[in-house]
Amino acid sequence: MNIDDKVGKTLQELGMTDAAGVVALFAEVRTAMESEREALVARGASSDPVRDQLCKALRDRWLARKSGLVSLIDENWLKMAMKELKPVVGRQFNQLRQLASCMETEALARDVQVRRDAVVQVRGLQLEASAGSVNVEVTLPGLRRPLGSIHPVIRVQREIEDIFLGLGFKIETGPEIESVYYNFDALNIPETHSSRDDWDTIYVDSKTLLRTHTSPVQIRAMERYVREGSQGGLYIITPGKCYRNDNPDATHSPMFHQMEGLAIDTDITFADLKGTLDFFAKKFFGEKTRTSFHPTFFPFTEPSGEVAVSCHVCDGQGCRTCKESGWIELMGCGMVHPQVLKNGGIDPERYSGWAFGLGIDRFTMARYGINDIQLFFQGDVRFLEQF
Ligand code: DAH
Repeated sequence: MNIDDKVGKTLQELGMTDAAGVVALFAEVRTAMESEREALVARGASSDPVRDQLCKALRDRWLARKSGLVSLIDENWLKMAMKELKPVVGRQFNQLRQLASCMETEALARDVQVRRDAVVQVRGLQLEASAGSVNVEVTLPGLRRPLGSIHPVIRVQREIEDIFLGLGFKIETGPEIESVYYNFDALNIPETHSSRDDWDTIYVDSKTLLRTHTSPVQIRAMERYVREGSQGGLYIITPGKCYRNDNPDATHSPMFHQMEGLAIDTDITFADLKGTLDFFAKKFFGEKTRTSFHPTFFPFTEPSGEVAVSCHVCDGQGCRTCKESGWIELMGCGMVHPQVLKNGGIDPERYSGWAFGLGIDRFTMARYGINDIQLFFQGDVRFLEQF
């Protein structure tokens, strides 16, 4: 039974006896309404008058005073509802009525584009047929999907890349399906480290996994540097996807994005690391931004640090974005461990280096004040259209 049939019956006739059923039924109505709206928006119209007719036809189908679907729901569902169900039907109906304001002709017309190629779609389209006679030009190219925009995470990734490219860094990438050696052993992460556990890592087999961070690209880049007999330093950033055996929640996703930075040269010191990251933070968040380094531990760097930046929203005063602390922790960093340099084939007596690793998704959340990482990966156009 489709929506048109259902609104012609009472809830009792539909066998609705509990609140959950009513809520589900209204959800079905909302979905139908939204998909009809989206279908029209995606299709477009061949001219202004056709657009207006189409929008009005769809508006009338839902909102016409006498026989529109919303009125029928009022008559047959709400007014006829059993006493126990009245409150829930009332609430659901009010919600629907509010939502249905997007079906007003003008609201629709704002979103439906006039495109020459929309003509092709006229035949076989019930709504267009009811809009009166329109010329059909079957030789025109098919309908193109409306152009999207750059995903916020990739937008921020490119912004970060631009800052480092400006400093002379190069972009280097590595495989997302990685060996245990590059992901762990070469980075000095011992067999006993908890990150190697099945609970934290998605293994393909005992020697292969979906990389848990972008750090393995450090080793691959050092090996290439040595293989190619390169001169001068190695300065790279390595953006890409990483994977962990995490359940999705507001701050975790089994797939996420990181960027590694690596600088190896003669005479590199911790001061270079601090100076570079401070410069980067100011470029990204604004000139007023301050950075703060705290000691921590990573197996692949020594010494290691956490980098926090002063909150760009409240300038360090404390607000919701920084959880009242004034600071946002955004990166891990440190001086590359001599053993890691050796593993990459580089002589730690001659060369030294620093590295950092940051979560691009976290940067994007901080930049735009987004509090749920899941929004990035759900593909909801209403979210993505805001960027
Ligand atoms: N690989 C670390 C992680 O995923 C991040 C990291 C910390 C990378 C410090 C680095 C670094 O290069 O120096 O948590």
